[in-house]
Amino acid sequence: MDIFLKYGAVGVMDSGIGGLTVLNKLLKSFPKLNFIYYGDNQNAPYGNKSIRELKRLALVGIDALVGNGAKIIVVACNTLSTTILDYIKAVSPVPVIPTLPNNKIDKNEFKSPTLIATPNTILSKYVIENFNNFNLVPLPFLAGEIERFIFSPNKISLEKDLNALPTDVDYLYLGCTHYIFLKERINAFLPRAIIADNLSDVALSLFNTLDKTSIKKVIGKRKVLFIGGSHNYNYTVFKKVLWSKGDGKTDLQSLK
Ligand code: DGL
Repeated sequence: MDIFLKYGAVGVMDSGIGGLTVLNKLLKSFPKLNFIYYGDNQNAPYGNKSIRELKRLALVGIDALVGNGAKIIVVACNTLSTTILDYIKAVSPVPVIPTLPNNKIDKNEFKSPTLIATPNTILSKYVIENFNNFNLVPLPFLAGEIERFIFSPNKISLEKDLNALPTDVDYLYLGCTHYIFLKERINAFLPRAIIADNLSDVALSLFNTLDKTSIKKVIGKRKVLFIGGSHNYNYTVFKKVLWSKGDGKTDLQSLK
């Protein structure tokens, strides 16, 4: 019997490689669950697309994941989660976990908390309503550069983007899953700032939702399947950049 039919799988989706940072966290947090990764790299980045287009593309991703056996979908994309989450929940036949920037900070501790994200995320109702105590900085090009140049990082003009931040930033929230690939480089540029992301929040939400699904713990090796038009690219980026040592308990496969 197919391993996904027997145990179910967690679906993870993003515009491209950004959600691989979420997948990496979830694989480590849930070592006995199967996963399916869908990246829409041909249409990335999502950060400047219209809401109508985002809805159309999200639907394709949901169908692909559910069609391959996903019993829950982690939307590993802040852009989709902050703009069209209600739509995704309405059209998805399985439960949905979003990836949302988290505004919880100690207001007395930080003078200049700052959120960086795609233009769509920064302009979303979610961010406007929840981040009024943050500096909001849209980065129109960074996710696209990370998407294309992950194997030649010198071509990513991160420092130019960070130079545009307020000079007193002491807390920087990475509101795009692509940026997490550059967390160490960001930290090196802003050594005195706390650099935060939502990976642990997403893992916790998944943990709290699993009992509403039919997903079971795998006996033996679990499987991670990469699907979507650029499955080989996502598989390669994941293996080379995030999963080089593996865990000995996971069978990574790119769709044939
Ligand atoms: N990684 C996504 C996010 O978290 C999307 C970036 C993009 O495609 O613009 O926002």
